[in-house]
Amino acid sequence: KVIKLSEYKQPDYLVETIDLTFHLDSTKTLVQSKMTVSKNTTDAAPLVLNGEELILKSVKINGEAFTDYKHDEEVHTLTLNRVPAGSFTLEIENEINPEANKTLDGLYKSGTIFCTQNEPEGFRRITFYVDRPDNMAKFTTKIIADKKLYPILLSNGNPIAKGDLDGGKHFVTWEDPFKKPSYLYALVAGDLGFIKDTYKTTSGRNVALEIYCDKGNEDKCHHAMESLKKSMKWDEDRFGLEYDLDIYMIVAVDAFNMGAMENKGLNIFNSAYVLADQKSATDGNFYGIESVIGHEYFHNWTGNRITCRDWFQLTLKEGLTVFRDQEFSADMNSRSVERIQSVLGLRASQFAEDAGPTSHPIKPATYMEINNFYTATIYEKGAEVIRMIQTLLGVDGFRRGMDKYFELFDGQAVRTEDFIHAMSVANDNFDFTQFKNWYGQNGTPLLKSTSKYDEANKRLTLTLTQSFPANAPKDAKPYHMPVRVGLIGADGKDVASKVLELKTPTQDFVFENISSKPITSVNRDFSAPVKLTTDLSFDDQLFLMAHDSDSFNRFEAAQVVAQKLMLDLIQDAHAKKPLELNAKYVAAFGKVLADTTIDEAFKALSMTIPSEGILHQELAEIYYPETEAVRDFVMKTLATAHQDILLKLFTSIDQKGEYKLDPKAMGQRDLKIKALNLLSMVDGDKYKTLAFDHFKSATNMTDEIGALSVLINSNSSFKAEALKSFYTKWKSETLVMQKWLSVQAVASDDSAYDNILALEKDSIYDRTIPNLVRALLGQFAANNKVQFNHPSGRGYKLVADRMLELDKLNPQVASRLASGFKDYSRIPKDLQAKMKPELDRIIKTDGLSKNVYEIVSKILA
Ligand code: ARG
Ligand code: ZN
Repeated sequence: KVIKLSEYKQPDYLVETIDLTFHLDSTKTLVQSKMTVSKNTTDAAPLVLNGEELILKSVKINGEAFTDYKHDEEVHTLTLNRVPAGSFTLEIENEINPEANKTLDGLYKSGTIFCTQNEPEGFRRITFYVDRPDNMAKFTTKIIADKKLYPILLSNGNPIAKGDLDGGKHFVTWEDPFKKPSYLYALVAGDLGFIKDTYKTTSGRNVALEIYCDKGNEDKCHHAMESLKKSMKWDEDRFGLEYDLDIYMIVAVDAFNMGAMENKGLNIFNSAYVLADQKSATDGNFYGIESVIGHEYFHNWTGNRITCRDWFQLTLKEGLTVFRDQEFSADMNSRSVERIQSVLGLRASQFAEDAGPTSHPIKPATYMEINNFYTATIYEKGAEVIRMIQTLLGVDGFRRGMDKYFELFDGQAVRTEDFIHAMSVANDNFDFTQFKNWYGQNGTPLLKSTSKYDEANKRLTLTLTQSFPANAPKDAKPYHMPVRVGLIGADGKDVASKVLELKTPTQDFVFENISSKPITSVNRDFSAPVKLTTDLSFDDQLFLMAHDSDSFNRFEAAQVVAQKLMLDLIQDAHAKKPLELNAKYVAAFGKVLADTTIDEAFKALSMTIPSEGILHQELAEIYYPETEAVRDFVMKTLATAHQDILLKLFTSIDQKGEYKLDPKAMGQRDLKIKALNLLSMVDGDKYKTLAFDHFKSATNMTDEIGALSVLINSNSSFKAEALKSFYTKWKSETLVMQKWLSVQAVASDDSAYDNILALEKDSIYDRTIPNLVRALLGQFAANNKVQFNHPSGRGYKLVADRMLELDKLNPQVASRLASGFKDYSRIPKDLQAKMKPELDRIIKTDGLSKNVYEIVSKILA
């Protein structure tokens, strides 16, 4: 069944207050709910409550037993007929089995911890409810549980009562003063370790900060706590937004479907985004923790205080909150590194998604399973759309719009149009009519830039032309896009720089008083999320690589050059021609390596060789082995030509001193690993030995796992020994074992397949923990292009088998494994012949989840 935005209808009934009592038990938890309900529309409609996997015990209305209901377990509803006309109290008792709940949706157990995940539609697995975000109620919760097993009992808001009960039990009652949708509801119980701190807001409110984890992990929570305090301060400084309760809690659990969840006052996190220390976490982990802690904290205003009317509006809170977390990361670290990393991420995942079978606009018009729409498009492209609004209005104008948004809509469940409205009225009624096309049209727009210099009149005319990709809607309308442009003189200095607003399919922009022919730098800072082509020559690009004052375009120039050369080489490889790498490019790459004026972080980024996934996006027919061979060839050629300077970069950075986590130190570690990775491609054992030494002497996880992955990628003879010693050292730490699994899952040699089968049997592996499944099978399906697409078809069969097995446990995890199959329409015929039967087998399976059905049917369509 397809749900349509156009069919949105207000709820017939609203819940004003709900008092919940939980008698916690691993297999038989009794849930008692007492609600005040009232009619919201004039339609003569019964009260339909959502409910899934619930054992109904009793129903009462206004204190009297009520029997005029129908519990339909097939369609997951409880329909109450002839309920009172005015406001009434509804009491329901039901039972649930948290331990048997492997979907990790609703109330479940992660190890010994009871926890919840209710976004988007998990609450209906706890009790019967009008489970939709435009139904906002005041929640209180009384949790009753065994005091020894579950000394800590948490829910949203503030604790208002606690005490001991008979039979070794105790209770805590929580009250959340803010109305909220059920998806923000949370409950946690367990024998947890914790760390505490406090934060004083600008207006003087003292907030207790608490981070909970499995006992023994407390020392790994400090970076998360620091990140939380930074987030709170940043939102006050940048947006004037303060925290609004007396307590903010974060709980880390191992079994979690996503990254984290912004439940009011009680965030629940995948432990991968909380726990870190120097020995076991990489710089990337530390960076990710700061960003996700920020993201969930920022949701308190953009998501919780103002929420979504319906799930088609998901980008209202997610795009905006990703934009906010990206800005936070930029302010806490290096703005240019943050921007480059987020664009690389956008291209790798969102551009691929937007060109494939599950392409959708940031505001979809239909869905079958909303869990399939927590996508790179809703999140990352959604954030780019918000960024464009800021670019159009300026930082101050955007802030005025945010202030207006809270003034108009605080406490409400709204639409993306309401956000745009606030931005507009706060900025002299800025006209967003055309801009709104970004919300409803799928596909990555194409932008072409050409320029003409008129020597006699000292005038440069820049022509920008936008067009749509093949999969855009037939009636697609032009976008309103801000294109940041710079004109660079022969001395490398900007002679002009401004934001152009492109609205028509093609438009000329004239720059006067330009004394000599400049080089154009277009879409600086990636101001519009488009695929750009230009009339720049190879030499122009090399010039930008050396001189562009915009660090994004300076980085980008090297990517453009490398990508063009590599795409040509892939065709050569396919035609079995000998490969040869352009000498000018090899020399330019060496110049960047030798440049002492650029910092380590930027240099490391500049050494990025376009990934296989990025190259595949440009191929009408995807040649997997050729792409990989070309990438290896390019790396080997660059490394062999520049081995002296690479070695110098590697050895000259001495990090023997104190371990630091600042952008400089992180850039240095990244540069060392990037240099080592290139060097390992050079023939002979010399640099592989160097990598092995780096592995053995590592004092932090960035170096340790970085060197291990170099040893695996280069198929070094030290590989087996390194993998074994790493395992022995880390087997008791599941987050570290996830890294160990991932590096093996993406190993491109033929042994990867058998290795995966063996790893699944290892005692550290557990298919009910999504992180482990993603680390092994998810990485294999999405990122081991050559082995997943093995000519025998065994990679397809393995992933299809696992998808079907997992679908019975956890459909969300199963459906995300389908990503590797999304290349279906562009793979060579012989591979299609192997993939098709697997997709058919999946789709024909009885009892398949909506999650998997929706994705696989789109791939086959
Ligand atoms: N709102 C969460 C976040 O972005 C994501 C929760 C998604 N959960 C899910 N089961 N789809 O921070
Ligand atoms: Zn979010």
